[in-house]
Amino acid sequence: MSENLYEVKELFFSYSLGKQKIEAIRGLSLNIPTSALVTISGPSGSGKSTLLNILGLIEPAQQGTVIFQNEDIGSMGEKRKNQIRKFQIGFIFQQFHLIPVLSAEENVRYFLSRQKLPKNEIEERIEESLQAVGLWEHRMKKPSELSGGQKQRVAIARAVAKRPHVIIGDEPTASLDQKTGCEIMEILANLVAARKSSVILTTHDAMVQSFSTQNFHIQDGRL
Ligand SMILES: Nc1ncnc2c1ncn2[C@@H]1O[C@H](COP(=O)(O)OP(=O)(O)O)[C@@H](O)[C@H]1O
Ligand SMILES: [Mg+2]
Repeated sequence: MSENLYEVKELFFSYSLGKQKIEAIRGLSLNIPTSALVTISGPSGSGKSTLLNILGLIEPAQQGTVIFQNEDIGSMGEKRKNQIRKFQIGFIFQQFHLIPVLSAEENVRYFLSRQKLPKNEIEERIEESLQAVGLWEHRMKKPSELSGGQKQRVAIARAVAKRPHVIIGDEPTASLDQKTGCEIMEILANLVAARKSSVILTTHDAMVQSFSTQNFHIQDGRL
């Protein structure tokens, strides 16, 4: 068994735009260890989001291999991929993606309800995850009553409540000010330390990179 969470070998990915082919990832290889806070940096258009979508099993690799926890993603069926996305990967986004009509607590519960857990475990996980991000006191508030940083904390709680093996975030601090972004990074770093889960983020920001245990800089779809 490998210690790596991901092993990416000779990955290629291109988009078709009419007759044009845009090569977003061009022969990229990297290993992502478990229990790490990994950042992927690089200029705009360098392929960060594309790579993250592949790691999140949202886009398939077109060439090359991606191994997730010793299992080749390329040979997984849709059912297996759905199962992994649902139970093992937590997602956070730049724009939070909360459901506006639901309170913080309901936002976490809504996503957990898909997991078919016993009711008491659902409630336990909701409290645990909202406590972990320091938002338990604000659990009845709707997103419109929360600041940007608090919204992102709800989104993190929602991801954490799954007890995923990895949390993946595409520039999750990009719409926050530096101080708030820094608080979010502290929460994520604590999660990695306390739960031995992994976090993988894309970023432009040196502050975010400073929290990483490992950074991969990509340019033109290559390391
Ligand atoms: N849906 C898409 N259709 C066509 N081209 C795309 C699409 N998404 C991204 N690209 C192109 O692929 C390249 C890599 O994009 P992306 O992975 O979003 O980079 P980054 O996240 O580093 O800014 C860029 O040239 C971008 O314009
Ligand atoms: Mg991007």
